[in-house]
Amino acid sequence: MKVLITGATGLIGKELGKALLQRGHQITVVSRNRQKAKEQLSFPCDVIECDLGRSSFKEKIAVEAVFHLMGENVTASRWNEKVKTEIRDSRVLSTRHLNQSLANTVSFYLSSSGVGIYGDQPGVSLTEKSKPDQSYLSQVCVDWENEVDQYLKIQPHAITAKIRTGIVLAPNGGALKKMLPAFKMGVGGALGSGAQYMSWIHIDDLVGMMIHAFEKRVGGAFNGVAPNPVTNKEFSKTLASTVHRPLGPSIPKIALKLLFGEMSEIMLADQKAYPTHALNTGFQFKYGQLEDALKNVLTK
Ligand SMILES: NC(=O)c1ccc[n+]([C@@H]2O[C@H](COP(=O)([O-])OP(=O)(O)OC[C@H]3O[C@@H](n4cnc5c(N)ncnc54)[C@H](OP(=O)(O)O)[C@@H]3O)[C@@H](O)[C@H]2O)c1
Repeated sequence: MKVLITGATGLIGKELGKALLQRGHQITVVSRNRQKAKEQLSFPCDVIECDLGRSSFKEKIAVEAVFHLMGENVTASRWNEKVKTEIRDSRVLSTRHLNQSLANTVSFYLSSSGVGIYGDQPGVSLTEKSKPDQSYLSQVCVDWENEVDQYLKIQPHAITAKIRTGIVLAPNGGALKKMLPAFKMGVGGALGSGAQYMSWIHIDDLVGMMIHAFEKRVGGAFNGVAPNPVTNKEFSKTLASTVHRPLGPSIPKIALKLLFGEMSEIMLADQKAYPTHALNTGFQFKYGQLEDALKNVLTK
């Protein structure tokens, strides 16, 4: 089948591309830099050079499935108005431009979203039916998901799936790469009180969930998280013990706010999300427990 991936050069896209190739699909990717994409990607593919955050593309391609994963990294720099516009445009506007670029041939359309859609909801067990809050990132995710469903005006029979991804545990990047140096030195500790829940997922399970939705043609919102969310303190303790170091001191909330500004809300938000839709549609996790996931990722 002819499939299109945006964000294929990213942490998740690289693994998803490999999984789709193994299943015999013919891949086209959209990247802002054709040369970089050709160098970075380990799977054969055609490349359309376009920054969808700024414009649509003119190439006429009749793909049957779309995986839309691009987006400015939300923790790459301290948030100011320019960074927030880039975070939003690379998701919401990029989806609008992607829809304008696509013919009516797409029968399955999956997009990333984030558990950030739930904002900060202490003490609440979050399923896909839970409501968003009013925070900036929550509203970006709401608008992003709504924009995906606009494709249904072009092809009403298409199935749209939105993966509300949690913290992705992967060997070569993402949140873990940023946390590891401190934890390996024995100074990594909890963030704030550490009582806030974190929803995490092993990258193999996230890619598996995307393939599950695609192959079973299941649409709707999926919490892209493992079935056992943990508090930030438990996460920190487990990570410290996995790298055989003591748990370091906690970083006070006020220090995080001073250091990271508004972006600190991502580190302090309480998001206890459950993968209800994935489990109800028969998805089986390989890494349901944090300790197993961390051990696997850190030995790769
Ligand atoms: N990793 C996580 O823990 C996590 C958690 C929750 C949600 N997500 C979501 O899942 C999606 C994929 O995540 P990821 O970790 O694989 O992403 P990533 O590695 O940070 O980047 C994905 C790709 O998006 C493109 N991109 C980055 N900034 C852009 C910008 N300003 N404008 C246009 N394109 C841009 C880049 O592709 P080119 O350079 O080739 O154009 C990049 O390789 C993202 O939308 C992210 O929000 C990820």
